[in-house]
Amino acid sequence: MKILIVGKGAREHAFAWKIAQSPKITQLYAAPGSPGIAQYAECVDLSDSDFDGLIGLVQKEQIDLTLVGPEIPLAEGIVDRFQEAGLTIFGPTQAAAQIEADKDFALELMHKYDIPTGAYATFTEPEPAREYIREKGVPIVLKASGLAAGKGVLICHTLDEALQGVEEIVVDQAFGEAGNKLVVMEYLEGEEASIFAFTDGEDLVYLLPAQDHKTIDEGDVGLNTGGMGAYAPAPVVTPELMQEAQDRIMAPTVKALAKEGRPYKGILYLGLILTADGPKVIEFNCRLGDPEAQVVLPLLKTDLVDILTAVCNSTVKDLNIELDNRAATTVVMASGGYPEAYETGFPIKGLDEAEALGDVVIFHAGTGAQNSTLVTGGGRVLAVTAMANDIPSAISHAYKAVDQISFQGHYFRKDIGHRALARLEPV
Ligand code: AMP
Ligand code: GLY
Repeated sequence: MKILIVGKGAREHAFAWKIAQSPKITQLYAAPGSPGIAQYAECVDLSDSDFDGLIGLVQKEQIDLTLVGPEIPLAEGIVDRFQEAGLTIFGPTQAAAQIEADKDFALELMHKYDIPTGAYATFTEPEPAREYIREKGVPIVLKASGLAAGKGVLICHTLDEALQGVEEIVVDQAFGEAGNKLVVMEYLEGEEASIFAFTDGEDLVYLLPAQDHKTIDEGDVGLNTGGMGAYAPAPVVTPELMQEAQDRIMAPTVKALAKEGRPYKGILYLGLILTADGPKVIEFNCRLGDPEAQVVLPLLKTDLVDILTAVCNSTVKDLNIELDNRAATTVVMASGGYPEAYETGFPIKGLDEAEALGDVVIFHAGTGAQNSTLVTGGGRVLAVTAMANDIPSAISHAYKAVDQISFQGHYFRKDIGHRALARLEPV
C-alpha cells in the first residue's frame, strides 16, 4: 500500500513514524514533509493547500490513501476535492470539518442535541455583543468563530477587557475573516483534557486521553503557544469520566453530525473541561492534536493503516484497538523568543544520543537542512517523546533525553506533566 501524508509538523512526523511500522506499507510519501519525516517518506515539495498538485501526485504515483494532518486543508475542502476525483482520503469533508472551523456552528449543534457545553451567543455587530457582555458579566470568553491558529480566543476577567476584545475582533478584525462572527461564551472552569476518536461516521474507537500545555511559561502562565508538551494517559480522565465523555459527548456528536447531513469520518478531537457540573465541551477539532499526537500515537499498538482503512471503508465496528499500558510524555524544545520573534538556522546536536537512551522518539516540529546539517527552522523545533511504565518515569525519561539535545537559545518548559504528578503524588 502507498500512503501520502499531508502536512509538515511534529504531528505528521508522528503519523509517518507510526505508519512506517506497518508491514502493509510499500511506499510512504509526504507533502511537504520535513527533514524528520524524510527518514521514512519521500517528501514532495507541495503545499497542503495545493489540492490540484496533491491530486496530480496521487494519480501519478498511484497512491492508495491520503491522510491529512492539519485543519486548514480539511476546512478548505481537500477531502471533497479528492473524493470528486475518485481518490481515497482520510479526514472529514468540508461540511463536517465545520465542527472546528466554525465555532458558532459547533455550539449551535451541541445546544440543539443537548451535548454539555457552555452558554453562548453569536454576533456580527459590536453593539449587541457589548450589551450581551454587560448583561452576562465577567469572566467571559470571546472567540473568533473561524480558524485562527489557536489564537482567536480571549479569556476576559474584567468588563474593560471584554469590551476591548469586541473592538479587537469585530471592529479592528485582529483575526481577519475568522472574526466575521464573534462567539461570546460562558467561562468554564476546570482541568482540561484532550480526547481523540477515529470514526467512520457511525462507530468510534478511542486513543488514550492526553493533556496539553498551551502556554510558554511554567505554571501555565504567559503567552499561548502551539503547545509546549503533552502526556498520556491523563489520570484526570478516570475510566468513568472517559465513559461519560464517550456516551454523552463523542457518540452523540457523531450521530448529530450524521443527522444534520454532515457525516463525520476521520479523527474527532474533543477539548474537554472537567467542571464542577461535570464534563463539558470547550471545543471540537477535526484532526489529531499537536503535541498530543506525539504521545497518543506511540501508545497505540494497533496497526494505524488498519484503522485508516477501516474509517475509509466504514468498518470501524469490526476494529479491535490495542493500546499500550505504558505512559508517554513529550517535551517541546523551542527557539528562544518563541512565541514572539525568534531566529532559526542553528545546528541541532545530540539527537542520536537522546534516542540511544531507548524508548525515546524525537519528532521534528520545525527543522531544516543546511549542507546536510540539521538546523532549527521554526518556533517549535522538536518534540522529544519518551515512554516508560508510568507517568513519573516517562516524564523523567523525556527530560533525560532533552538534556542530550542542544541548539543555540533552546527553550523548554521544565514542568510538563505537573498536573499528573500532583494528582499521582499528593503532598
Ligand atoms: P479553543 O481554541 O476554543 O480551544 O480555546 C483555547 C483555550 O482557551 C482552551 O484550551 C481553554 O483553555 C480556553 N477556553 C476556551 N473556551 C473557554 C471557556 N468557555 N471557558 C474557559 N476557558 C476557555
Ligand atoms: N493541542 C492543541 C491543538 O492541537 O489544537
